[in-house]
Amino acid sequence: MKLPTDSAITIDVPLIREDPTLVNTQITRGLQGHPKTLPSKLFYDERGSTLFEQICELPEYYQTRTEHQLLTQWADEIVTMSGAEELVELGSGAATKTRVLLTAMANANQLRHYVPFDVDESIVRRVSEELVQEYPGLQVHGVVGDFLFHLEHIPEGGKRLVVILGGTIGNLLSHAAKDFLTAVNAEMSSGDYFLLGVQLITDRSRLEAAYNDRQGITAKFNKNIIRVLHNNFGADSHPDLFDHVARYNEDAHRIEMWLRSRQDQTLNIADLNFSVPLAHGEEIRTEISTKYDQPLAQELLASSGFEMVKWYTDPESLIGLALTQKP
Ligand SMILES: C[S@@+](CC[C@H](N)C(=O)[O-])C[C@H]1O[C@@H](n2cnc3c(N)ncnc32)[C@H](O)[C@@H]1O
Repeated sequence: MKLPTDSAITIDVPLIREDPTLVNTQITRGLQGHPKTLPSKLFYDERGSTLFEQICELPEYYQTRTEHQLLTQWADEIVTMSGAEELVELGSGAATKTRVLLTAMANANQLRHYVPFDVDESIVRRVSEELVQEYPGLQVHGVVGDFLFHLEHIPEGGKRLVVILGGTIGNLLSHAAKDFLTAVNAEMSSGDYFLLGVQLITDRSRLEAAYNDRQGITAKFNKNIIRVLHNNFGADSHPDLFDHVARYNEDAHRIEMWLRSRQDQTLNIADLNFSVPLAHGEEIRTEISTKYDQPLAQELLASSGFEMVKWYTDPESLIGLALTQKP
């Protein structure tokens, strides 16, 4: 289904055609598991995307500004090496840092197409409209979908640079990250470039502070998943019945975000005809954010079919950008 909203913009919406049992099963299976989990894509309705943009501005959230600085430093080189005329971004969100790459492509007279791919329709539409204004002549083909299931909706393109930024890859368990990147690789042509941003292992205090900000924005973001369950699936619980918990799991080198029930309650999800009891203090895991080091990132990329071209990092080794190529 292609809904042209403007001559320069096409938005493809495979998510609207998504078999509803897919997300329903993800929710019910997750809540029956040990530990109980919810799929983190459910954070991202319009409110969740806005809260994530606010997180990116927080003093404690060093990740966004560090990745932004790295991109600013290396975008010209990345764009020149890739020779790409099309930028495909998976989990594109507000595409704030993406503008650094788009500007470098425009300066090199290489910018033709941008493909923002995200689960949140509101942000794909907003970003598409902003970018055709900011980059005259740019063609935007947005895809509203789940990148774990709808990659085949990435439109055919010319020479492409595919990017995943913002630590999004860290939200997947390691086997899922490998399967996902292997599927991304399969959608690319030989010679296309792939840029992966990873958040690097650093000290626990810095990591935990980034997910427990003083203003409580991350807590609101975490609890937004309960709001989405209420609005989209008829759940009867309320965000205030949960506490936000974020802690570093050293063995798995990942931050885990949990919602801890403030009382005994039963979470009834009417549209799914599903109920789950939650004891006072019981936790539901809503997100993981795995931290990598260079060897782990290289191993992941090599096992997914990518050849390392160049590794960029900042002086404190907080963020890594791996520029790779499909052989
Ligand atoms: C951590 S944010 C990163 C946003 C942006 N790339 C950045 O660097 O700031 C993850 C983004 O991926 C999107 N996302 C999460 N799970 C997704 C999924 N399964 N399919 C498509 N998009 C997803 C979210 O909506 C969100 O915009």
